[in-house]
Parts: sequence; structure tokens; C-alpha cells
Amino acid sequence: MARVLLTGGAGYIASHTAVALIGRGHEVVLLDNFANAERDVPARLERLTGKQVPLIEADIRDTPAVVAALAAQPVEAVIHFAALKAVGESEADPLLYYDMNIIGTIRLLQAMQECGVGRIVFSSSATVYGQPDRSPILEDAPTRVQNIYGRTKLVMEDLISDLARTGKLRGAANLRYFNPVGAHPSGMIGETPRGVPNNLMPYVTQVATGERPFLNVWGNDYDTPDGTGVRDYIHVVDLAEAHALALEHLLANDVALTVNLGTGVGISVLDLVRAFERVTGREIPLKFAPRRAGDVASYYANPELAARVFGWTAKLNVEDMCRDSWRWQAQRAGINDI
Ligand code: NAD
Ligand code: WQD
Repeated sequence: MARVLLTGGAGYIASHTAVALIGRGHEVVLLDNFANAERDVPARLERLTGKQVPLIEADIRDTPAVVAALAAQPVEAVIHFAALKAVGESEADPLLYYDMNIIGTIRLLQAMQECGVGRIVFSSSATVYGQPDRSPILEDAPTRVQNIYGRTKLVMEDLISDLARTGKLRGAANLRYFNPVGAHPSGMIGETPRGVPNNLMPYVTQVATGERPFLNVWGNDYDTPDGTGVRDYIHVVDLAEAHALALEHLLANDVALTVNLGTGVGISVLDLVRAFERVTGREIPLKFAPRRAGDVASYYANPELAARVFGWTAKLNVEDMCRDSWRWQAQRAGINDI
């Protein structure tokens, strides 16, 4: 049993991780500035878990506030989710991303050092691989960042790895997520994108509710089985479980690692749309449109390291991802058919 601080704790992946951690007997403290989160998330988590879920409203760049949070409730580890994550926005405003993500991480690490907290699990991204030479991708594949957001992830990984290498951190896990989707099966927590969703699954669910008339499929001339982009979608509940196992690994071993979190299964845009139609009974009108700038044709993980080190493999499939994403979005839209 450990007490853990979750930065960005009210966000999409952190809120699911809080449920997984509590389910395994850990205690969580959330820290969030609500830059991209709903205020009622802690209350929802308390209803879902039956446990108290304290939240400190603070910015990770505010070192005194983070020190106060760490000192008030001593924690064994931090899981660091807080970041800005929109690729387009990062290209439009690089300094905002350097500040929030890189400076934010430095400030957090300073606060941790001041309070003697030596273990960190970090939300990295498969975006650091850019255009891979081949899939499945292993962790030692070259990193080729293609945008400012990806650059910040790689810099943050390096900062954390350096501190572990120089003995300033006892344990560190850089977790490279592939494409997280889905929601908790209770329908009580999920992803709430602001404005027009960039990502495929939230867009599909909004077409299904009628909020958007059709899906633009960005490119059907890729060198993939059906011509549409192939990704490794991973259910957020599986991803959350992986964080709990990574944390427990760091509590038991003083190590620094970088680990892929994906299913190892490549799914095309059309595969995902068909699975969604199958499990929800809703039709998703679509139009083929030109390729989206910066997209790669195909990438998926080799997830064997996570299996070997954490004993983790993804259990949920694309149907589960579609069903749970739909339940979340449907009830938000006031539709009760699942
Ligand atoms: P999210 O936006 O739902 O969660 C991030 C949380 O951090 C939000 O609650 C936001 O309010 C908070 N936050 C942002 N800046 C902050 C700051 N300066 N101080 C305090 N809180 C702050 O995003 P998510 O999808 O849950 O992503 C979590 C992490 O996983 C991020 O680091 C993201 O880059 C990474 N990641 C996400 C994906 C994805 O597709 N969702 C893929 C790979 C990696
Ligand atoms: C998936 C596939 C699109 C929307 C992004 C970030 C990455 C990571 C996860 C954080 C692609 C196609 C999409 C649509 C479509 N985030 N698509 N119509 O681009 O793999 O990754 O989110 O770290 O950094 O870049 O995910 O969901 O946007 O796209 O056809 O309306 O769906 O072309 O093939 P992506 P995505």
C-alpha cells in the first residue's frame, strides 16, 4: 500500500489510474489546475470507489504549492500526467508547451527532490517514435520527434532518465502510451475533449450522437491493408492497470525503465469504425478526405517488455473500447441505448 500523488489527477488517463490504484489498495492524492479537466471528477471518483479522493488545485510549475502538497500528505511516488497534449496547438505556440510541459516537469522534480520523493512514473507517448522503420516497435527503436509536443515528451523522458542515472531518483518509469481510448465501464468517468475532437474515437462517438454529421477519414491511400491509417488503440482501463503495476515495480525495485504500453495489435480507421457500428448498432457516415499533415501510415507496439517486467498485458479488445467509449458519450448526450 502506497500513497501516490497524481499530477493532472483530474484528467482522462489519471482519473482511470486513480480507480485502478484504489482498487489495488493504494491511496491517491490528485493535483490539477483544471486546464483540461472537469471540476466534478474527484466527486465522481469518490462515488465510483467509495473512498476519499483528495484534490489539490495547483499548477505543477508552482513549486511552493507542490512542496506544500507533498509535505502535507507524504507520498512514496508521483505519477506525472499533467501536460498539454494537442499536437496542433504545440506547433502554434511552442513556448507554451515548453513552459507547461518541460518547465512544469523541472519544477515538479525540484519539489520532489526537496521533499525526498524519489520515484516517478511518467506519461510519455509513442509519438516519440515518429515515423518508425517497422512495426511492431521496440523501445530501442530510434526516436524521431515530428512536432513540438513530441519534442517536449522526449525532453521530459531525458530529464527523468538523467536524474535516475545520477542517483537523484530511486526509480523512474517512462511509459510510452500508444493510442488510449475507451472509458470506465461504469460510464462515470471518460474523456471530455474541448471543441472539435482531433482524435479518432471521440470524433466517432460524436458522429454517433449526431453532434457531427460524418467522419472525415484522413487518407485511404496509405500502404496498409485497407488504405487507412493503422494504430495501436489501447483501452484506458488496461492502461490504468499498467500504471499501478509500474508503480508497484518501482516500489519493489530501484530501477529506471522506458516501456511501451500498447496491445501489439494494429487497427485501421475502417476496422475501428466497423467495430463501433457492430457493437453500438449506430451507423457512422464517413467521407474519405486527403491525408492529414504529419500522420504516419501505421504503427503499433511490441508490448513484450511490459509483460516481462510488470507482468502486464492488455486484456480489452476493440469492441470493449468502442462499447465503453459509446456508453460514456451517449449518456453525456442524454441517449440511453446501451
Ligand atoms: P488530460 O488533458 O485529460 O489530462 C491532463 C491533466 O493535466 C488535465 O486534467 C489538466 O487539467 C492537467 N494539467 C495540465 N497542465 C497542468 C499544470 N501545469 N498543472 C497542473 N495540472 C495540469 O490528458 P490525458 O489524455 O489524460 O493525458 C495524460 C498524459 O498522458 C499527458 O501527459 C499526455 O501528454 C499523455 N499522453 C496522452 C495520450 C492520449 O492520447 N490521451 C497519449 C500519449 C500520452
Ligand atoms: C488515429 C487515426 C488519423 C481523426 C495522436 C497524437 C499522439 C497521441 C495520440 C498524445 C489516424 C485517423 C483521426 C479523424 C481520421 N497523443 N483519423 N479522422 O494521430 O495516431 O495520435 O493522439 O501523445 O501524439 O498525434 O491519433 O486519434 O488523431 O488518429 O481519419 O477525424 O485516425 O488519420 O490514422 P494519432 P488520432
